[in-house]
Amino acid sequence: AAAGLCPCRALLARCGGALRALCGSVRGLAAGPATHFGFQTVTEAERREKIYQVFESVAKKYDVMNDSMTLGIHRVWKDILMHKMNPSPGTLLLDVAGGTGDIAFRFINYVRSVRERQLQRKLKHHQNLSWQEISESYQEDKSKSLGNSQVVVCDINKEMLKVGKQKAQHLGYSEGLSWVLGNAEELPFDDDKFDVYTIAFGIRNVTRIDL
Ligand SMILES: C[S@@+](CC[C@H](N)C(=O)[O-])C[C@H]1O[C@@H](n2cnc3c(N)ncnc32)[C@H](O)[C@@H]1O
Repeated sequence: AAAGLCPCRALLARCGGALRALCGSVRGLAAGPATHFGFQTVTEAERREKIYQVFESVAKKYDVMNDSMTLGIHRVWKDILMHKMNPSPGTLLLDVAGGTGDIAFRFINYVRSVRERQLQRKLKHHQNLSWQEISESYQEDKSKSLGNSQVVVCDINKEMLKVGKQKAQHLGYSEGLSWVLGNAEELPFDDDKFDVYTIAFGIRNVTRIDL
């Protein structure tokens, strides 16, 4: 490409090219190695940014899109997941990439129903108690409808969490539920804090699953 230029300009053109290549690789090193986003080759940092932007822009429509794109089948898959998990009252769940809370709400419903069945059985076995004793014990148990179970929804995207929290408020979920802004690649929790870890439709969005 430098053919036909005077020697000084040819040298400058070469230096410029080398400098640009060097800057490119320094930037690449800072942003991590190359990876893919769809058909594009991007740096890891660019991939994370693009994924963030996708969920930021669809957060408000995410649930509707999920239903329409899977014809509602994601609901069945999530129900199957919960039945396989079969959590009992007291189970601590970390739902990573938990988005708008679908797994967390199912977890709460499931544990509540197990707890309710446990209470019914307990009442059956206490037939010698007075009505007052039964009522007091029932009220006490009822106030802890999850029996100390907790679910933490951890997601990197503020907008997804915001929609999830609004949904939880609207549907009346609060006991045992918390929302944490965090990255699956560097979870902000101590080891061995949870009994179960789930990540539903999220692993493909995590750039470095080996971390
Ligand atoms: C397809 S949605 C799944 C949401 C939910 N689990 C569900 O099944 O409906 C993927 C979620 O992964 C989150 N996400 C992407 N990269 C993440 C990361 N590195 N750490 C935590 N969450 C991440 C997105 O913000 C998004 O909420």
